[in-house]
Amino acid sequence: MSKDHILCDLEDISEGSAKSFLIEIDGSKKEVLIVRKADQVFGYLNWCPHRGTPLDWLKDNFLDRDGHLIVCATHGAYFQIEDGKCVAGPCAGDRLRPYPVEVTNGVIRSISRF
Ligand code: FES
Repeated sequence: MSKDHILCDLEDISEGSAKSFLIEIDGSKKEVLIVRKADQVFGYLNWCPHRGTPLDWLKDNFLDRDGHLIVCATHGAYFQIEDGKCVAGPCAGDRLRPYPVEVTNGVIRSISRF
């Protein structure tokens, strides 16, 4: 069973950027990324479906130049922020693994998946 986690305040992630967190999921440490778009947040495992590598090449550098898509640094796949679907690159049609999060009273927290 997955535990809920309080990750940070919404203000800690600036609009159009992302931040990573190392958390425990099902008994092992995993890195997740949280992307902020306006007052919405979207969470995914930091794991590319193409080869299973981390998406960022510099810490917390997950988005394209315009801040509209998530990019995998290894082979340049692009993923939609809202649903994690790969729209270009070697894993087109695949998806990032979701890590459900919500904002409550200005605080970002994970939502239990079970
Ligand atoms: S490992 Fe991400 S696109 Fe190849």
